[in-house]
Amino acid sequence: MDNISGKRIILGVSGGIAVYKAVELLRLLTKSGADVHVVMTGAAQEFVTPLTFQTLSSNPVHLDLFNLIAEREISHISLADRADLFIVAPATANVIGKIACGIADDMLTTTIMATKAPVLIAPAMNVNMYTNPIYRENEQKLIRNGYLFVDPVSGSLACGWEGQGKLAAPEAIFEAAVAALSIKDLADHTIMVTAGPTREEIDPVRYISNHSSGKMGYALARAAVRRGARVILVSGPTCLTVPDGVELVAVESACEMRAAVMSRVGLCDVVIKAAAVADYRPLERKTAKIKKKSEHMSIELQKNPDILAELGAMQKRPFLVGFAAETCDLSEYALKKLKAKNLDMIVANDVSQVDAGFNVETNRALLLFRNGRSEECSLMTKDGLAVIILDSIAAELACRTPAD
Ligand code: PMT
Repeated sequence: MDNISGKRIILGVSGGIAVYKAVELLRLLTKSGADVHVVMTGAAQEFVTPLTFQTLSSNPVHLDLFNLIAEREISHISLADRADLFIVAPATANVIGKIACGIADDMLTTTIMATKAPVLIAPAMNVNMYTNPIYRENEQKLIRNGYLFVDPVSGSLACGWEGQGKLAAPEAIFEAAVAALSIKDLADHTIMVTAGPTREEIDPVRYISNHSSGKMGYALARAAVRRGARVILVSGPTCLTVPDGVELVAVESACEMRAAVMSRVGLCDVVIKAAAVADYRPLERKTAKIKKKSEHMSIELQKNPDILAELGAMQKRPFLVGFAAETCDLSEYALKKLKAKNLDMIVANDVSQVDAGFNVETNRALLLFRNGRSEECSLMTKDGLAVIILDSIAAELACRTPAD
């Protein structure tokens, strides 16, 4: 779940080889329910025709400041006024230079000058243009004035040079757009999220683990960073991409996770423990691969530290959110954990369901709070559940006095 649905977004496209990526960005925005209006410069039309943008946006494309039909209602002003967000992708050095200098000589630059909506700029250009001190000054001036940027990435550029200048991936620009549209109600908070499984090594080739994919924890980290929080993600091994803006601390075992959490908890005012920490580890880790011999074998296990319980026992502890992975009697077991581990809130999920819990895109949960309040969350995406969990956390934090 994101906050793009129903938003009016102006997508400004200026001329460069990366214009084709703006088509993909447009697809991502419209698929999420945005009402996208495209403004193209003359140079952009040399790379991709307006018809492509018009067909995919289902809206007329704005090209000309002096179009007699569109300008009957002064379209650059009405577009600017009605925008929730303005994205320029790709943004050339020329367009960025014009915006920085207050030059408004075409439909794109005039509309940007007239808008009060946040403007998100995704530059794309040759590496030498990108590092040119005049360009850098222009970018800094715009940042100082509140314009948002999605930095270009490094790679081989269409002009033959290697270096930074490639337009950021459409997914990264989309993510920055979601963040730009989010209320920054967690801006003053540092939130630690734990995610994924832990691996407890038996020997150099084998380990004990579980089915956690990390999706729930990563969804929480992504949602928190969008709302302006500083996010520290302590993650066991996963195949997931770390959300932009999140500080990753990669760990393997429960003991490593404990060390990572305990050494950083002092920085945090909220800890959300979505990780599926292995309760036991082998008493001894063999240094050489165990050879296959007898028909049966047993491995002696030792209890792992309960990280959440240790956090709950701290004298001055952060706002603590635990998860409970249960297969029956959800609320009873979750409530016991909430009390035993001294939590502020627990998210109970029934992991026996095929569409919830481990390694699926969706989840359903029962939220239980320290003050006895509870909230049922029906089946939804993990991104959606993350938003609801953070809404609850933000509301609880807002009620706290500084002494709490
Ligand atoms: O990663 P996904 O595939 O998206 O799956 C999500 C999830 C099912 C893993 C997630 O929603 C979830 O339920 N995480 C908690 C899993 C778990 O370990 O639950 P538990 O009931 O065993 O533990 C209770 C709480 O104590 C958890 O917050 C856990 O992080 C914490 N704990 C547990 C054991 C331990 N040694 N240290 C801990 O801190």
